[in-house]
Amino acid sequence: MELKVEGLNVFYGDKKILNDISFNIKSGEITTIIGPNGSGKSTLIKTISRYLKPKGGSIYLDKVNINQINTKEIARNLAVLPQVKDVSSDISVEELVSYGRYPHLKFGKRLSKEDKEIIEWALEKTGLLEMKDRCVVTLSGGERQRAWIAMSLAQKPKILLLDEPTTFLDICYQFEVLELVKELNKTLGITVVMVLHDLNQAARYSDKMLVINNGDLWEYGEPCEIVSENLLKNIFKIDADIYEDKVNNCPYFIPRKITA
Ligand SMILES: Nc1ncnc2c1ncn2[C@@H]1O[C@H](COP(=O)(O)OP(=O)(O)O)[C@@H](O)[C@H]1O
Ligand SMILES: [Mg+2]
Repeated sequence: MELKVEGLNVFYGDKKILNDISFNIKSGEITTIIGPNGSGKSTLIKTISRYLKPKGGSIYLDKVNINQINTKEIARNLAVLPQVKDVSSDISVEELVSYGRYPHLKFGKRLSKEDKEIIEWALEKTGLLEMKDRCVVTLSGGERQRAWIAMSLAQKPKILLLDEPTTFLDICYQFEVLELVKELNKTLGITVVMVLHDLNQAARYSDKMLVINNGDLWEYGEPCEIVSENLLKNIFKIDADIYEDKVNNCPYFIPRKITA
């Protein structure tokens, strides 16, 4: 599913957080939003997921303005993994994943056989089948993140929004989560929009990167266009050398020092 954002302006009170943001994400692409802390990345994710209402501008899913789609219909197409998640302590993995089916349930109806099959499929896809009865709170960071992704998958979304899905995970789990996201993108054709802090990971896993700086869209393009000395110097305030990762066919950089 295609996602189009046009002239988005978002405020918290009087403070303008996002300034006239426009971009067009093609169906089936992985796009990573990058930018310094506090630049407005989470605000953008929250606005696209309709958690925040913009003061101006429009958001389109496959050319339909989301204001013309009801909340349940949006949830059938778009799943969100927020940056801050809370979960009640005694819920099992399977229960958490079953929440993903709620947008698909008819009013007052219980989970059908098909819903249960989809939950099982989501657990299997994320390698959680044998842990389905465990309490979510007893899972490791990586397993817990996979459980949230499984919940999003059970929603059978066409677009998946992930806000910093790898934060607090060690490098192996970071890799695991990103590989899973890539696999879901490739095998199910889900359009992915995520926020990542690690720019090298962003460059490696994305078709497109979108740079937000102080509420402005600074640049939007392919990793090889985005990862530049200019970006690192002007947006992230570091001097860096840029190389080519020939195995993964993407740029990567090594930071050298803080820009004078
Ligand atoms: N609930 C809120 N009320 C007021 N200001 C907020 C709120 N949430 C975020 N902000 C401010 O909006 C700006 C962008 O925040 P955010 O989108 O979370 O940044 P990022 O995800 O890029 O780190 C920051 O200046 C932050 O302090
Ligand atoms: Mg954030």
